[in-house]
Amino acid sequence: MTSTPVPHTAIIVVAAGSGTRLAGGAPKAFVGIDSHSILRHCLDGVFAAAPAQVIVVAPAGFEGDAESELRTAAGDRADLGRVVTGGATRQQSVAAGLAALWADVDTVLVHDAARALTPPALFDAVVEAVGADAGAIPALPVVDTLKRVDGDLVVAPVDRAELAAAQTPQGFPRALLETAYARAAEAGLEYTDDAALFAAAGHAVHRIPGSERGFKITTPADLERARHLLAPPAVARSPRIGIGTDVHAFGGEGDLWLAGLEWPGEQALSGHSDGDAVAHAIVDALLGAAGLGDIGEHFGTAHPEYAGAHADVFLARTREILAEAGYAIGNVSVQFQGNRPKFSPRRTEAQAVLSRQLGAPVSVTATTTDALGFAGRGEGIAVTAVALVFETECGR
Ligand code: CTP
Ligand code: MG
Repeated sequence: MTSTPVPHTAIIVVAAGSGTRLAGGAPKAFVGIDSHSILRHCLDGVFAAAPAQVIVVAPAGFEGDAESELRTAAGDRADLGRVVTGGATRQQSVAAGLAALWADVDTVLVHDAARALTPPALFDAVVEAVGADAGAIPALPVVDTLKRVDGDLVVAPVDRAELAAAQTPQGFPRALLETAYARAAEAGLEYTDDAALFAAAGHAVHRIPGSERGFKITTPADLERARHLLAPPAVARSPRIGIGTDVHAFGGEGDLWLAGLEWPGEQALSGHSDGDAVAHAIVDALLGAAGLGDIGEHFGTAHPEYAGAHADVFLARTREILAEAGYAIGNVSVQFQGNRPKFSPRRTEAQAVLSRQLGAPVSVTATTTDALGFAGRGEGIAVTAVALVFETECGR
């Protein structure tokens, strides 16, 4: 033993199940949440609580794996830990754990390894709540509206105020728990949890508030939830802002193209491409934000392939240029000044088209200029765009 005094509390971590519902390719306790297994996360919590004897009940054949998880999680408390082999049912696994208790232990907590994210404070709170002849369990209020059913038929409502959802660790006075276990084994009775077995022996069980993080990883969706909770918060990467403007005169051939849409019957804008000044201002704002040059450099007259091209081609290529340089688009806001076309009836449509092409939100507003300037005289359209971009992981 180390200099640590022998604890009077033990925590039995049952980890011997196969995890059929999770179907994780290994016994559930050894399935990874992130780089660490369910068992390792569970034991990290156990060893962060007040010192206790820790008994890990492992599936047959996995005792060595459990041992190394135990040793890593325990650190300098390794002397408090021990691995035993589990049984065919959870109850038998707990019984195997009980058989390994030290003589000095008077309070026993039983904990599902599958409740991997249970906060350490909950272990201490349960130990505190165990009475001389009463058990204690954490439980959460039931939030769903419950029905008693018979097959497909809803038979009756159930008052959820009378119910609570039981979690682990469940704590008990050692001697009474051992007797209750011996009696259940003799009678050949199986219980779904230790509190039910303990109560069946005629003892009281009290409840304390449970923890949302104490949920049991049972299905793949539960594993996803655990992964999500452990994922590091998204690091805010340096944002960069850019501005772009464009002006085109009316007088092009055919129909107007503006904001990624064709406007039949409206006078066309002139230009090297389709004259879509909204799209061009967006391109400059994006390239400017990323410090990647401007529209003339990437799409100008030196690039005849863009003659007559529409917004989809410009925006898709710009998005590609940014992605190759390690930038993701945050959002774009663009405004054009002009008397025509009347924009608001097609704003939603234009925003949807441009947003889809950039893979980021684009908002478009329009205004007249009170008859002032070239836009006010109806000679052309002036556009201003601002764009926000972010460096991505693959960027610099
Ligand atoms: N357990 C155990 N021994 C068993 C069965 C279950 O130690 N024979 C443990 C599990 O490892 C788990 C806890 O009891 O930590 C709760 O059981 P459950 O969530 O049902 O786990 P599994 O039985 O492994 O899963 P499944 O029922 O989907 O097979
Ligand atoms: Mg099970």
